[in-house]
Amino acid sequence: MNSRQELEQIAIRAAKEAGCLIRQKCGRAARMELKASEYDLVTEVDKACEEIVRRHVAEHCPTHQILGEEGVAPGAEASAKALAESREAEFLWIIDPIDGTTNFVHGLPYSVVSIGIAHRGEVVVGVIYDAFRDELFTARLGEGAYLNGERMTVSEEATLPQALLATGFPVDVRRARAINMRGMNALASTVRNFRAVGSAAMHLAYVAAGRLTGFWEADLNAWDLSAGSLLVQEAGGRVTDTRGTDYDLGVRHIVATNGRVHEELVKVLVESQATGYETE
Ligand code: IPD
Ligand code: CA
Ligand code: CA
Ligand code: CA
Repeated sequence: MNSRQELEQIAIRAAKEAGCLIRQKCGRAARMELKASEYDLVTEVDKACEEIVRRHVAEHCPTHQILGEEGVAPGAEASAKALAESREAEFLWIIDPIDGTTNFVHGLPYSVVSIGIAHRGEVVVGVIYDAFRDELFTARLGEGAYLNGERMTVSEEATLPQALLATGFPVDVRRARAINMRGMNALASTVRNFRAVGSAAMHLAYVAAGRLTGFWEADLNAWDLSAGSLLVQEAGGRVTDTRGTDYDLGVRHIVATNGRVHEELVKVLVESQATGYETE
């Protein structure tokens, strides 16, 4: 039986090996395929990175289950079904082999490897690795969050006018992007500013590191969120869905903040109907 510390070390080695490949191949993928739509991309490098992580898990934790983005059929229903089926596993590795594939395809160096490890449905280890900056973000449940071994804490901003918020533009262009735009519109005249680097996991890691005040986005999946949500919570922040219900692996519309601006942000999202698909 591996300790959480051992599991974290296995995840780190896997994330670093995959990250190395991401750095080498950024902007040089040989084959780009479309998944659910023209906006949903996958390359041979996404698949190779997922294989790297799967190999480490199979070698060191052969009884553990794996939920990897590239092992699941595209689309919200398929991902929800895959999660439901695997959720009760004793140990479940939740892998986003490249978070930021669109950046990767375009040669924009903002992509990370994200690995969450859940024990009976609760995330207990989170590892996010940014190979371009050699930044390793790690957390174990109840033991704090770290950037390259240094303890991280969320930022101090206490109001939305002081807040630097990130969001993203999901691959579902018809519905989820519209939801995010409603949120942006409602917040535009209030917040200090917005950022969007194109990787949900990186946004979450940056909230944990105190570089961003908060992050919200609709229509994400467990592999985008599992590691980063633990990082934010362990760094002293708060993670809920867009209506303010506490994070669990089934959450798809996410709000993660330093805690201080959380209620104010959720209130604006609720009032602007930027919380899900309720206006259809
Ligand atoms: C995407 C990124 C992006 C977010 C999309 C995700 P992928 O993940 O996290 O920031 O806006 O909704 O699908 O496909 O690059 O792993
Ligand atoms: Ca993807
Ligand atoms: Ca992702
Ligand atoms: Ca991905």
